[in-house]
Amino acid sequence: MGGMQLRGKTALITGSAGGIGRATSLLFAREGAAVTLVDLNQEAGQKVVHEISSTGGRAIFERADVTSAADCRRVVERTVREFGGIHILVNNAGIIRRASVVETTEQEWDAVMAANVKSIFLLCREVIPVMARARGGSIINTASGWGLAGGARAAAYCASKGAVVLMTKAMATDHGRQNIRVNCICPGDTDTAMLRSEARQLGEAEDQLLSDAANRPLGRVGKPEEIAQAALYLASDVSSFVTGTALVVDGGGLATSG
Ligand SMILES: NC(=O)c1ccc[n+]([C@@H]2O[C@H](COP(=O)([O-])OP(=O)(O)OC[C@H]3O[C@@H](n4cnc5c(N)ncnc54)[C@H](O)[C@@H]3O)[C@@H](O)[C@H]2O)c1
Repeated sequence: MGGMQLRGKTALITGSAGGIGRATSLLFAREGAAVTLVDLNQEAGQKVVHEISSTGGRAIFERADVTSAADCRRVVERTVREFGGIHILVNNAGIIRRASVVETTEQEWDAVMAANVKSIFLLCREVIPVMARARGGSIINTASGWGLAGGARAAAYCASKGAVVLMTKAMATDHGRQNIRVNCICPGDTDTAMLRSEARQLGEAEDQLLSDAANRPLGRVGKPEEIAQAALYLASDVSSFVTGTALVVDGGGLATSG
C-alpha cells in the first residue's frame, strides 16, 4: 500500500489500457482513488481493472472514443452514477504520426488533432460542471516535450501538443475561482507502445530509436511509472497552489542543447 494520497477521491483516466495511462491508473488506485478507465482497447483495459480489483482497489472500465462527444458524456455520467463525482480528470489518450507537413495526409492531421486536442475539450466540457458543483478538482493533461519544442517529422503531433499546453493555461485561467486546478505534464521519450510504434513509422529498428532517445542528461528513456508519479503530485492536495503549469518530466532532455 502507498501513502493513500488520493483516499476518498474519484479519478477518470483516458488512454488507460496501456503505457502511461495504465501506470497512472494503477498508482492512483494504490493511493486510494476509485478509478474509471477509458480506452478504445476493451480487452487490455479490462485487464488493468482486474489487476486493480485483485489487489483490493476500486476501478471500472468504459470503452469509449474520446473524440466522440456522446462517448465523453456517457463516461462522465457513468462515473458520477457509480462513484458519486469526479475529483480528478487525466486527459492522457493520444496518438502520434511521425511525418513532416508535406508527408501528412489531411485525414492524419484531423485524427491527431481530434485524439490529442478535441478530446480534452469534449471531456472538460462535461467534467468541469461536475467539479464546480463539488467546489473543486484537478485536471491533468498529458502534453509532451514536443509541446514546448519542435521535433523532426512530427508536425501534426507538435501542433497538437502545443495546443494542449496553452489550452491548459486557458482553462486554469477560466476555472481557478471554482477551485479547479488545470495542469499538464510534458513527458520526454517514455518506454511505451507509442514510442515503439514511432520506430516502425520511421522505418527504424526499435532498439536504435530507444538508444537514440536515451541521449539526454540522465542517459535513458523514462518509465511509465515515472510519469505517473508526476500525475500523482498534480492530482493530490500536495500541489494545492499549482495551476496552469507545464511540468517537464524528461530526464533533462529539454534542459540541454547537447
Ligand atoms: N511515450 C512517450 O514517449 C510520450 C512522450 C510524450 C508524451 N506522450 C503522451 O502520453 C500519452 C500516453 O501515451 P503512451 O506513450 O502511454 O501511449 P500508448 O499508445 O501506450 O497509450 C495510449 C492509449 O490511448 C488510447 N487511445 C488512443 N486514442 C484513443 C481514443 N480516441 N479514445 C480512447 N482511447 C484512445 C490507446 O488505445 C492507448 O491505450 C499520449 O498523450 C502521448 O502523446 C508520450
